[in-house]
Amino acid sequence: MANLVKYAAHLLIATAIFFHPASFAKQAAVAMPDSYSSDTARAILEQGGNAVDAAIAAQFVLAVTLPEAGNIGGGGFMLIQKDGKGDFIDYRETAPTAAHRDMYLDDKGDVIDNMSVYGIHASGVPGSVAGMWLAHQKHGSLEWKTLLEPAVKLAEQGFIVHPKLAASIERYITRMAKKSVNINFADYFADAKANKVFKQPELAATLKRIRDQGKAGFYEGETAKIIATFMKQHGGIITEQDLKAYQAKSRTPIKGNWRGYEVLTSPPPSSGGIAILQWLKMYDLAKPKGTLEHNSTTYVHILAEVGKRVFADRAEYLGDPDFYEVPKTALLADDYLSNRASTIRPDAISTTENIKPGLHESEQTTHFSILDKWGNAVANTTTINLSFGSGVVVSGAGFILNDEMDDFSAKPGVMNVFGAIGGKANEIQPHKRMLSSMTPTILLQDNKVKMVTGSPGGTTIISSVYESILNAVEFDMTAEQVVDSPRFHHQLWPKNVIRYHTGLEPKVVKALEKMGYTLDERHFGDMHVIINKDGKLDAASEASGRGKAMVF
Ligand code: DON
Repeated sequence: MANLVKYAAHLLIATAIFFHPASFAKQAAVAMPDSYSSDTARAILEQGGNAVDAAIAAQFVLAVTLPEAGNIGGGGFMLIQKDGKGDFIDYRETAPTAAHRDMYLDDKGDVIDNMSVYGIHASGVPGSVAGMWLAHQKHGSLEWKTLLEPAVKLAEQGFIVHPKLAASIERYITRMAKKSVNINFADYFADAKANKVFKQPELAATLKRIRDQGKAGFYEGETAKIIATFMKQHGGIITEQDLKAYQAKSRTPIKGNWRGYEVLTSPPPSSGGIAILQWLKMYDLAKPKGTLEHNSTTYVHILAEVGKRVFADRAEYLGDPDFYEVPKTALLADDYLSNRASTIRPDAISTTENIKPGLHESEQTTHFSILDKWGNAVANTTTINLSFGSGVVVSGAGFILNDEMDDFSAKPGVMNVFGAIGGKANEIQPHKRMLSSMTPTILLQDNKVKMVTGSPGGTTIISSVYESILNAVEFDMTAEQVVDSPRFHHQLWPKNVIRYHTGLEPKVVKALEKMGYTLDERHFGDMHVIINKDGKLDAASEASGRGKAMVF
């Protein structure tokens, strides 16, 4: 009898371990935008930290070694699947108290060139430090200080500048010198030369205050004073009060079913989660029976048609949910999507002007993916908006400020730098979060992580993410094939323009042009993806970037 009880107990424990959502992966994986963040994330995981610990340490390292996009002066979204449950840390920037709807318009009501993109007026109140703090309070297991140490060291002792970074710094300085914008970027970064050590003492001091005082080390005390004084000196509007009031938020991720997977993805103020679910579901509704050939003319055309409808809705209904009621359920309802997809023809382009929002009621960001040995995952996308943000470095604190205010709609119907339009839902209001396309996403099956994905790239992020999912699921690609495969994007406006990345086949380009599309080759975002295929992990970073992915 005693043996039987013992056997039953063993069985119970074994079953519990086997079915525990976190038990399947003995391996861990990281797919990161540079080698410093990759090595740091791995070291934290090997020290016994979880995926969230690794993500926090990596975020701070990227603020030092990836100044195009890594940041403490910007914001982002961290999607987490931990211990079988989803969480979404929204650390998007907010409009300062003194911001108002027409702040980027001149006397005639026209949008002032560059004002929301470069210089002192372009920045929202940064959210990154508060986001990492909240993620740590809720999910961290190692000491906060331990997670800051790698970044402090790289800022203080310096890091070796990758030739690709040195080249983009040089290009940026040359390009900005030709524009009449008032930025101080070159004062800080002109000395960052290829293969040489680059030190950032002011940034190191700021990171030490964050290490020692936590969130208050940025939003209060010395750092807050430095930022507010700098703003005042240069005519900016972010105040000490704005900094103190900033709150990162934990939101419920969007969960949608698609082909037997649960797609765990980003809720508003991201537009991306709703968009990728609309895209994946309408694709299934609109495509002819069977599997279309990957990146063939019909495949690209049907997905562009879906994109028209997705972006018409995005411009009308998506904004900060704390300020504008986003009709999430209606936008994802099966009836609504099948109605919307029913007008898609496989061989003809629908007229751009006729595609309206459907409800009858009222280039540089960075992404990384981490999966720990317990099966917890983090998909984190962070940004200062364009490469090197507003081009303004806070003197005395050593970090670049974002130009995220451009993601608001400065005037109804007027395109922002990504060609996105918007209206009431995304107009500027004090303390409001600007709409984002960042879409960190995790694919689950039976509550186990199957894929961790996300991308930079402005509005093209949404296409990169849904296409990465189609590539992995429909076309059974490896992680490397997913990140290096040509991608494409259509967003209703500009009219019938399909942007594409890393080369579609020339015959497909020709056939699409013949149908009436204009093809525009552009650089999309640098993708970092992890795939779990039957318990075996596969991770990849896009070859064109300076990323590093590892399974260990
Ligand atoms: O949140 C957004 O949608 C944009 N600020 C992202 C910018 C971006 O991805 C630029 N990168 N290439």
